[in-house]
Amino acid sequence: MKFNLKKKYLRLFESRAILYINLIIHKWFKEKDLGSLNLNFSDKPTRQHIVQKIIDKKNYKSYLEIGCRDDNLFSEINCEKKIGVDPVSGGTLRMKSDFFFKKNTDKFDCIFIDGLHEYHQVKKDIINSLKSLNQNGIILLHDCLPDSVFTQAIPRCKKNWNGDVWKSIVEFRTKPEVDVYTCYADQGIGVIFNRKNRNLLKIETKKFSALKFKEYFYNYKTLMNVISFEKLLELI
Ligand SMILES: C[S@@+](CC[C@H](N)C(=O)[O-])C[C@H]1O[C@@H](n2cnc3c(N)ncnc32)[C@H](O)[C@@H]1O
Repeated sequence: MKFNLKKKYLRLFESRAILYINLIIHKWFKEKDLGSLNLNFSDKPTRQHIVQKIIDKKNYKSYLEIGCRDDNLFSEINCEKKIGVDPVSGGTLRMKSDFFFKKNTDKFDCIFIDGLHEYHQVKKDIINSLKSLNQNGIILLHDCLPDSVFTQAIPRCKKNWNGDVWKSIVEFRTKPEVDVYTCYADQGIGVIFNRKNRNLLKIETKKFSALKFKEYFYNYKTLMNVISFEKLLELI
C-alpha cells in the first residue's frame, strides 16, 4: 500500500518534471510566446450539452467516441447505440482508434474525436471517421481552440493542453467536399459535415503540420470558421 503510494507520487513527479523541461525547451528554442487570446468558455455550453442537443435534434441513433478517459462525456450521452474507444480507460473498447477503424464495419450518426491530440493522428481519425459516418451524420472534435502557444505545443508542456488539433481543422477547411466549422465552446468544438464546403478556406500552405501558431493567433476566427452554438444549431 505504502509502496504503491510512493510509486504513484514518483510517477506524478516525473510527469510534472517532463512538462517543465518541455516548457523550457519551447520557451528557449521554439515559437515565440505571443500571450493569451483570452478565450473564455465559462459562459458557453459544455461538450456534454452540445453533443446531446445535436443527438436529440437530429434523432441520431448511434454515437462513437474516440478517447474517453474518465467517461466524463461518454457516460452523460443518451443514445440508442454507444461505442467508446480508448487504449487506457473508459468507453467500451480497450484499443487505439487506428485498430478500431481497421476492424470496424459499422456506421455512426455522431462521432466525437478526442483521442491523441496531435495533428497526424487527428487527421487519420477524421479520414477514418468520414468513412464510418452515416450520410446525414456529424463529426465533432474537442480542443480545437488553444489559447496560447504553450497550450498547443508538441511535445506537451502544460497540464491543460489542447494539442495541435487546430491544424487538422485548418486542413479540412480547404477541402471542397466537407463543410467545417469550430463552435466557440468548451475548448473549441470542431464540426465536420459530409457535404459541400459552404465557406472554403483558400491558403497557400500545403504542409499543414508546419503551420505556425502565429498564423492561428492573428487569424483564428477565419482559419477555424468560428461560430456560436446558436449558429451551429441553425446549420444542422
Ligand atoms: C482528453 S482524454 C478524453 C476525454 C473525454 N473524451 C471527455 O470528454 O471527457 C483523451 C483520451 O484519449 C485516449 N487516447 C490516446 N491516444 C488514443 C488513440 N490513439 N486512440 C484512442 N484513444 C486515445 C487517452 O487514453 C485518453 O484517455
